Amino acid sequence: MKRVFLVSLALLMFAGAAFSQTGGVKRRPLPWEYGRVVINNYSQEAGLPPVVFDHWLHRAKYTCRLCHVDLGFAMKAGGTGIKAEDNMQGYYCGACHNGKSVLDGRIIFEACGKVKTGDCLRCHSLGQQVKQDYDFQRFTAGLPRGRFGNGIDWEKAELQGLIKPIDYIEGVSIKRGALPIPKDTQLQTNMAGMPDIIFSHKKHAAWSGCELCHPEIFGVKKGASYSMDEIFGGKYCGTCHGLVAFPSLDCQRCHAKPVY
Ligand code: HEC
Ligand code: HEC
Ligand code: HEC
Ligand code: HEC
Ligand code: HEC
Ligand code: HEC
Repeated sequence: MKRVFLVSLALLMFAGAAFSQTGGVKRRPLPWEYGRVVINNYSQEAGLPPVVFDHWLHRAKYTCRLCHVDLGFAMKAGGTGIKAEDNMQGYYCGACHNGKSVLDGRIIFEACGKVKTGDCLRCHSLGQQVKQDYDFQRFTAGLPRGRFGNGIDWEKAELQGLIKPIDYIEGVSIKRGALPIPKDTQLQTNMAGMPDIIFSHKKHAAWSGCELCHPEIFGVKKGASYSMDEIFGGKYCGTCHGLVAFPSLDCQRCHAKPVY
């Protein structure tokens, strides 16, 4: 009884933080909006609509590590400072969107050019009525459901082989030896009644390799301690959980160790 009370209290304490985690936006993002990034450092200035980038489509095809380590995209909206020229030279979006690379039998359409065409609006799409090739509902129809975020259990989808995110691009990625993956660890909440967290290195390495977390997000030491406030604020686990990976609202997915 006491435990149930404490957990409810913790929930109440954090509910406010949880709902404001989307950066000032009051309502929760819809499943297809979760993980959407609007990029507008230069577009509007240059007379084009801002760029809309969706994680749900790209993360189904590639690992986080490939884009955020090998291709050098910042983990912050607008943080990379992508220029049209970079894309045209084969960097950033242009590493794939070059009108030549092929995936699943389809040529990946080209990013920026010198002359405006209707195709520019496939990326420069904010506020435009563009018919996209990929429809969220159709694309995700066969994937296992999750409760929050995109409404998809991405971890299960990868585990069951329904998606096979690519981790290497010829000519861009460097082949390296795999490091031994540490065993699952238990992170203690130090709060009576609040279940401890089970952290799986193996499951995370499938998406993020090692370099996406070490040394920037987490140092390499055992037994460090984090607070839920920091996580809701976008630090540590919250760097990904709350923006792209399932959000911190889903308490039980992390606080998974049974309480006896
Ligand atoms: C195809 C490339 C690609 C893949 C794959 C990808 N990302 Fe991203 N990610 C981006 C780009 C591009 C941005 C925006 C960078 C910018 O605006 O400068 C971004 C931004 C982010 C942000 C910041 C979002 C915000 O609103 O501030 C987070 C967090 C993030 N990614 C995490 C992930 C995680 C976790 C995965 C794997 C599940 C992943 N990304 C997979 C390209 C990718
Ligand atoms: C695959 C996605 C993609 C496509 C397609 C695309 N762009 Fe871009 N473009 C971007 C991104 C990302 C940026 C950076 C956005 C920002 O920060 O404002 C950008 C920025 C720009 C800029 C801003 C100024 C500069 O010099 O960087 C111009 C101009 C531009 N693109 C022109 C075009 C034109 C013209 C087309 C069509 C021929 C096009 N783009 C198609 C992704 C794309
Ligand atoms: C690692 C490779 C890769 C990178 C990097 C990448 N994309 Fe893509 N993107 C793809 C592939 C593959 C598709 C599916 C293309 C197809 O099947 O026609 C796609 C599709 C898209 C679509 C969907 C178009 C539609 O009609 O549904 C948009 C929009 C898009 N990308 C924007 C971007 C932007 C903006 C960037 C850079 C900020 C970017 N992508 C970076 C590989 C990539
Ligand atoms: C999603 C983020 C993330 C990724 C990806 C990740 N780690 Fe970690 N790692 C952590 C966290 C969190 C801890 C701290 C655990 C603790 O406090 O006990 C940690 C701790 C460690 C430790 C010290 C404690 C131990 O259990 O031995 C080592 C060594 C380590 N990681 C290596 C790796 C290697 C090698 C990879 C790639 C195969 C990797 N990590 C990928 C988050 C990550
Ligand atoms: C992405 C994983 C994740 C999710 C989701 C999550 N937590 Fe946590 N939680 C953690 C981690 C990691 C710690 C810190 C453990 C340590 O190192 O001390 C923690 C610590 C806590 C603590 C004890 C420390 C403190 O900050 O007071 C409480 C209470 C807590 N979480 C409640 C919640 C509640 C309530 C929710 C749902 C609204 C939630 N958590 C969702 C990962 C998560
Ligand atoms: C670099 C980004 C990143 C960081 C940092 C991160 N995660 Fe994750 N995590 C993911 C991705 C991607 C998935 C796959 C599921 C999804 O995207 O919803 C995932 C899945 C999980 C899962 C479900 C799979 C499983 O192991 O059962 C748990 C639980 C989890 N994370 C806990 C944590 C905790 C606790 C921390 C902090 C100590 C953390 N994560 C930090 C990206 C991250």
